[in-house]
Amino acid sequence: MSAKIANKSNTPTMADQADIHNLYEESVQNVEVEVEFLQTTFKALTGRTGYLFREDFCGTAGTSCQWVRQGREFQAIGVDIEPSVLEWGRNNNVSRLPSEDQARVSLIESDVMTVVTPSVDLLAAFNFSYFIFDTRDSLRAYFCRAYEALKDDGVFFLDMFGGPEAQQEMKEKTKHKGFTYVWHQAKFHPITNFIRCHISFRFPDGSRIKKAFTYEWRLWSAPEIRELLTEAGFSKATIYWEGEDEDGDGNGEFTADEKGEADLAWIAYIVAEK
Ligand SMILES: C[S@@+](CC[C@H](N)C(=O)[O-])C[C@H]1O[C@@H](n2cnc3c(N)ncnc32)[C@H](O)[C@@H]1O
Repeated sequence: MSAKIANKSNTPTMADQADIHNLYEESVQNVEVEVEFLQTTFKALTGRTGYLFREDFCGTAGTSCQWVRQGREFQAIGVDIEPSVLEWGRNNNVSRLPSEDQARVSLIESDVMTVVTPSVDLLAAFNFSYFIFDTRDSLRAYFCRAYEALKDDGVFFLDMFGGPEAQQEMKEKTKHKGFTYVWHQAKFHPITNFIRCHISFRFPDGSRIKKAFTYEWRLWSAPEIRELLTEAGFSKATIYWEGEDEDGDGNGEFTADEKGEADLAWIAYIVAEK
């Protein structure tokens, strides 16, 4: 859990008043762009609109809530093992939807390895959450469950990160309005690809929330993920690589790519067709 570093007076610091889930959403999510990518890619691959969406490792379920904003026919199922994060999502994301949209989001407290849901059009596992599986067998077993959860023409969406900087022990700071987001790659073991990362937040008054979130993952490579998806039954697993703007920075537009570029640090989507 997070450690708040307070000042010596009794006045609440900015860290005391902040909410880690709000800070997380602001720092690492862009659910509008994500849902547009999901729907556009699904339509391009299947020739139809996807309506029923499942979000594994949904956390605060921001993507599920954005999904149902597309209209009355759209439904979302969010799955997460942690009751407190689902509770936060219900109170802060689901409850802020127009009341007619709220009933079309179901949040299920469960392990993604055991949850049973109706067959869905699209299934997503974002922000690298499936990196918790640290053997080929356990990751393949999760991919098999994802395969089973989809309709016959369903599509499974994942994201990943890589590049030589992903294997470095380092801190990266990003300024946001009112706080700084700190991504800390604290440990990397090159023999196992074990990586431990922390998310911390710093505030203009000097207060901090240290280690608001900690992840222990295996840093999977693109060929390993693609091979395991195929072994799990998917007919095709394609990497969608990010395009560049004129300065060489990522432009947020992802297109199917067979090779990628030797960037120092990159994020990509993996799109697996049943
Ligand atoms: C990195 S967060 C991702 C949140 C969100 N998907 C996003 O894109 O930001 C990982 C989430 O996975 C959940 N989780 C971890 N293991 C799980 C499991 N076996 N089954 C379901 N949820 C799990 C955690 O509770 C946490 O909310």
